[in-house]
Amino acid sequence: MIDYDLLVEKYHKLGITDLPTRDMIKTEEEIEGIREAGRINTLVLDEVSKHIRAGISTDDINDIVHKKTLELGGIPAPLNYEGFPKSVCTSVNDAVCHGIPSKNQILKNGDIINVDCTTIYNGYYGDASRMFLIGACSDVAKDICKVTKEALDLCLKEIKPYSRLRDIGYIIEKYCKAHGYSVVHEIGGHGVGKDFHEDPFVYHFGKKGTGMVLFPGMVFTIEPMVNEGSRRVFLDASNDWTIYTDDGGLSAQWEYTLVMTETGLEILSY
Ligand code: MF3
Ligand code: CO
Ligand code: CO
Repeated sequence: MIDYDLLVEKYHKLGITDLPTRDMIKTEEEIEGIREAGRINTLVLDEVSKHIRAGISTDDINDIVHKKTLELGGIPAPLNYEGFPKSVCTSVNDAVCHGIPSKNQILKNGDIINVDCTTIYNGYYGDASRMFLIGACSDVAKDICKVTKEALDLCLKEIKPYSRLRDIGYIIEKYCKAHGYSVVHEIGGHGVGKDFHEDPFVYHFGKKGTGMVLFPGMVFTIEPMVNEGSRRVFLDASNDWTIYTDDGGLSAQWEYTLVMTETGLEILSY
């Protein structure tokens, strides 16, 4: 456990004032709670991966997530969150995020889908998402899913305690751009704990060496949304939830819940 006051004093002497607030530094007990919620959340995504295939509907995925979460003693956090009507987000092809499961949406050969699960367990949250390739996908579909995950994994390799928050976004956008893709700016990662979305907002773009200093004990997600074409997006006015790419190009996303330790980022849910 860090000495928060000592660290703040040290950084203030250096003239660096963009620091985590005290409540962003989780106790060992809180981290254990989030770790358990994250473990359950990972098991729910594992269950999805066993059953997802062409021919099932996104509402079938919702059923799988809902049932498995309850079976493991958790609560699906999306359900009724700010009016969200389902237990999971299912975002297909040009849907960037916050897709709403539907009986009428049948997965077909060549689709790519993000399944974003969040579980509440003992009052703590775990949040993660994965991409799934349905049957035989195009080369670009396979590549954008791969590159997005690589961008996220690169952060785990390069971000250390006392790195700066915007280093995360710098790494992600640089890597994705180098592979010919764009990064969505409007939606970011977030702190995780006893609330679904806590501070700080985790940008997926930015200038190296700027932003909040990342102290050990911080728990947050990184969840880049990466587009095949333009980074521009729009909100589906018919449901006020789902975000799509402006140009109809594909979008991929991966998300982990992470804890900053004394040595680097550790995955709590994937
Ligand atoms: N799981 C999403 C995230 O990563 C949030 C979904 S909010 C919902 O932050 F209401 F759409 F579920
Ligand atoms: Co999240
Ligand atoms: Co999520």
